[in-house]
Amino acid sequence: MFMRAFIETQFPIARLSAESYKERKAGASQTLTGLGKWWGRKPLILVRASILGMLMPASDNPKKDREIFLKILTMDDDGAWQRCKGEIPVAAWREAAPPEIQDEFFGARGFRQGLTEEEKEDICAQIWGTLTEEERQALDSQRRRPVPDRATFDALTYAERLRHCERPENVTGPTAAAWTEINVHLGTFANNLPELVEELGHRTFGHTPRVGDCFCGGGSIPFEAARIGCQAFGSDLNPVAGLLTWASLNLLGGGREVRENVRRVQEDVFAAAGRQITEWGIEQNERGERAEAFLCCVEVKPEGCDYYIPLAPSWVISEKYRIVTIWHKVPGSDWLQPEVIAVSKSDLELYKAKKGATVADSRVIDPFDPNRTWSVEALRGPDGLRRWTNEDLVPRPGDVFQERLYCIRWVKTITEINSAGKPVEKIVRRYAAPDAADLAREDKVLELLRERFADWQREGFTPSKAIISGYNTEQPIRERGWTHWHHLFTPRQLLVHGVLMQKAHCGPSNKQLVVASALGIASCCNWNSRLCGWTPQLARSGGIGAFAQTFYNQALNTLFNWGTRPLAGVHDFFAFKGGCMDAFPERNIAIVADARDLRETCDLWVTDPPYADAVNYHELGDFFLAWYDKQLVKAFPEWTPDARAELAVRGDGEDFRRSMVEIYRNLADHMPDNGLQMVMFTHQDPAVWADLGMILWAAGLKATAAWTISTETEAAGIKKGNYVQGTVCLVLRKRAANDPGFLDEVYPLVEDEVKHQIESMQALDEDDEPNFNDADYQLAAYAAALKVLTQYGTLDGRDVEHEVFAVRPSNEKSDFETVIERALGIACDTLVPRGLDNAWRDLSLVERYYLRALDIESRGERRKGMYEELARGFGVTDIRPLLKSDKANGTRMHTPSGFAAAGLAPVGEADADALSVRRGRTAGGAAHPFASSALRHLLFAIRETRTADNNPEPGRQYLRDTFGQGYWGRRERFISLLEWLAALGNAVGMNEWLNDSETARILAGRLRNDQA
Ligand SMILES: C[S@@+](CC[C@H](N)C(=O)[O-])C[C@H]1O[C@@H](n2cnc3c(N)ncnc32)[C@H](O)[C@@H]1O
Repeated sequence: MFMRAFIETQFPIARLSAESYKERKAGASQTLTGLGKWWGRKPLILVRASILGMLMPASDNPKKDREIFLKILTMDDDGAWQRCKGEIPVAAWREAAPPEIQDEFFGARGFRQGLTEEEKEDICAQIWGTLTEEERQALDSQRRRPVPDRATFDALTYAERLRHCERPENVTGPTAAAWTEINVHLGTFANNLPELVEELGHRTFGHTPRVGDCFCGGGSIPFEAARIGCQAFGSDLNPVAGLLTWASLNLLGGGREVRENVRRVQEDVFAAAGRQITEWGIEQNERGERAEAFLCCVEVKPEGCDYYIPLAPSWVISEKYRIVTIWHKVPGSDWLQPEVIAVSKSDLELYKAKKGATVADSRVIDPFDPNRTWSVEALRGPDGLRRWTNEDLVPRPGDVFQERLYCIRWVKTITEINSAGKPVEKIVRRYAAPDAADLAREDKVLELLRERFADWQREGFTPSKAIISGYNTEQPIRERGWTHWHHLFTPRQLLVHGVLMQKAHCGPSNKQLVVASALGIASCCNWNSRLCGWTPQLARSGGIGAFAQTFYNQALNTLFNWGTRPLAGVHDFFAFKGGCMDAFPERNIAIVADARDLRETCDLWVTDPPYADAVNYHELGDFFLAWYDKQLVKAFPEWTPDARAELAVRGDGEDFRRSMVEIYRNLADHMPDNGLQMVMFTHQDPAVWADLGMILWAAGLKATAAWTISTETEAAGIKKGNYVQGTVCLVLRKRAANDPGFLDEVYPLVEDEVKHQIESMQALDEDDEPNFNDADYQLAAYAAALKVLTQYGTLDGRDVEHEVFAVRPSNEKSDFETVIERALGIACDTLVPRGLDNAWRDLSLVERYYLRALDIESRGERRKGMYEELARGFGVTDIRPLLKSDKANGTRMHTPSGFAAAGLAPVGEADADALSVRRGRTAGGAAHPFASSALRHLLFAIRETRTADNNPEPGRQYLRDTFGQGYWGRRERFISLLEWLAALGNAVGMNEWLNDSETARILAGRLRNDQA
């Protein structure tokens, strides 16, 4: 038996969820996102807390442990105050904003009226994005502490406090006073996190702790492990992930000198590319303007139509300047002529409402006769589109889908004399349809590209890889006939990116520079491809029109119209963005490998597997890899420059399970006996993790704890609102012995463990700031069951691995699943809603379910999954008759009055026949168990009372008639239930209960005074 780690006993779930939320909301200013796109990144604060929680031993004083743990993370009250540095005043934001944003969003006194907090945050982020490093520092130095004193700060909830705080990763760490307390409790001598990690690691493992992640993706886990002083190991099958992780450890963590050198070289490369583009003269016009955006669209000539129809779901270009495109017929030509014009406010509204749109609901619309439409699918023809060849850079004449440029946004800086007589620079924008000179420049771009295309493909400055058809990659193939990755880019995009790549690789280089240029070009590609939509909305870039990114979602969606950037428009993407942290020691490793093949030993494995996350990393990653595969091979000859689709773990079927068991067995084999693992995964349905638990069990691991952190949440709020997505963190150790287990012995053990786990969590819950919610308690019950189960190698003589892979009918459960569900039942029963302790014991399961469901509803829970989970716990198979609404994120229970309409009449009730009993029956036709329950009769009595204008007589009489002499034995229980229901109407969001609650109060009073 090894010393238990802090995380095996408790975890500060609520505070960590709030911190993770804050980190997520930071958007582009998150530490690692600047390196490049990856999907499913884990919050760094969660990684930090997880590793420290695995390294810190638990003492016999859990409260003190919690206090110290929070101090280490600067998440205690003192630490949060120390992080409360204040916000930048609105006036300073306005001062720093570019003129168009100033005009659009700021008034004389601050933000324009009517903006939401979220919009304000977005505007600030936009301004921040336009500033240089020095300007940012100047702006940052104007912060003012918004909360004047500590008492006011402490009175806020933790989530509210965080709005004013820096993230823990952006402060120096605990204060000297905090370190003294930490050291006293832990018996250490640390002054900073790396020293603490070193000491704790030595104590448990005899050396600096080695932390590994075999699914490292964007690198969050190895990066954070290295930053807090661990020796980090990260590997991933996908070379794009390998590159991002390598960059996080060696560029961000490479120290100031490395970062500055990379930045300088990148700027030189950019400047050289700029000289080349200027020399070609492809981005400036004769009026001295430079192009800022080229808007292009697809066009088709359907059968029976005399002209090509340019396609766009909307022709609005700029909401701010009310710019739209309109199309004219040209006599003798089958090409329409675009005109870019400014329209009136009322006309803009019409265009925003899709006036002139030539594509809607997958149908092409004739701009001159909206009654004529053609299905896009049918236009592709019965055999689909012609497949482009490698040499195709634009559609060939005769192809179904042609392309054209329809608008250019030009920009010019002019000097004006202001009212004070001073010269001021002003940016002037002009939106125009292309003229003959512009079209000639487009031809020149194509010619320039064709001249060097073969060379550039050979050298690896433009992609040459074919697209392998898959779930996401089939879309561009089918919808546009594109067969190679470079087809996803216009000639102008290929030329601009190609020049950058050529300049980046023409001089002396090293690994860091190769990686930086690969990251830079990948970022350009995400923001400059044929899949980058154009958004004219005011909320984006002040309404002058903005480019969307390719991966605005996890797909490769082709578009009908898009924006292409000039070189200057990709500068910020190409430039290396790095923080200001100290250099990491040179001992961290990032490699590309299949997790099945790893031979590295780590003390702690922290992994976030691709568990049912539906992201096809191997397909999407190729979009980037195609741009730098040839350079990568030179810098990392040992890496396979291929996403190796066949090895990628995905889905949740049998193959997936087998791969996962193999991988986790491999990791278990590569950790010391006292090592720990954490498996993280994010999934909306808490039930699926039981399945993962079985996989890990079969891999020779045993669960010791599980916690859910809300890492993805909408503005609705943390731990409360809808759409909260939890990341389950499962803590595991190696199973040393494979002892046999027997089901009849297991049940009581599970029962004890569940109760123990829930009691210890309840003891840590603070009334004013609940640490755990219902989902946490349910999860803890699963974890408790897994803790008991996974100690055994066999259960009733059956081998775990056999059970995991056994094929059984979908309605049949394994013994393992039954035990896990039983644990949930125990948890549900242990968690008695406050105020119902006296009545609880005598209630049936379905009655308990109804009341517990009301209890969670009164605390704001609306996710259907939670109501279904509860039902599983109480063994209620059909909850539909009890639900007023079963919306995924709007689930609610019936009120007593609501049941009348639902027709779930109490069985035996006189007018039951008159009501539609159909909905009160279970699938098999039998009456629903709730219909005959005492609670249902009580709810009916409330309804009777309410129908009689709150005269309690008919309700009381109904109960006496229904229960006869039994009424007297039940009376006290009825009173407590009525009192509980009477309080429901007071809860936030329970307005529907206001009347019925009042009625329940009146009926309770009547019952209290009732005499035989
Ligand atoms: C959920 S992501 C990890 C995200 C990461 N934790 C982060 O914060 O960015 C899962 C990763 O598993 C990788 N993967 C899939 N199959 C693999 C295999 N057989 N071996 C190694 N890595 C694999 C994918 O490429 C993907 O990057």
